[in-house]
Amino acid sequence: KKYTLVDQETCIACSACGASAPDIFDYNDDGLSYSILDDNKGVTPIEEDLVDDLLDAYEGCPTDSIQVADEPFIRVAETV
Ligand code: F3S
Repeated sequence: KKYTLVDQETCIACSACGASAPDIFDYNDDGLSYSILDDNKGVTPIEEDLVDDLLDAYEGCPTDSIQVADEPFIRVAETV
């Protein structure tokens, strides 16, 4: 299974990820991306049919801000 969250320290609000994976990423009031699945905590497994979108977003982010892992993230992400 895949898990994801966005590092908002490095996200430049380029909006590419929401175009690639609209069911996973949305933007806060500052335009910074976050995972809508679990409020950017990275603890909710990505549904199989969304994994391709996730990997597209991961590869497309110009600042490598999209974190992807095979295990749930344990650090507490900045909340939106
Ligand atoms: Fe930010 Fe990268 Fe998405 S810069 S808006 S996380 S594509």
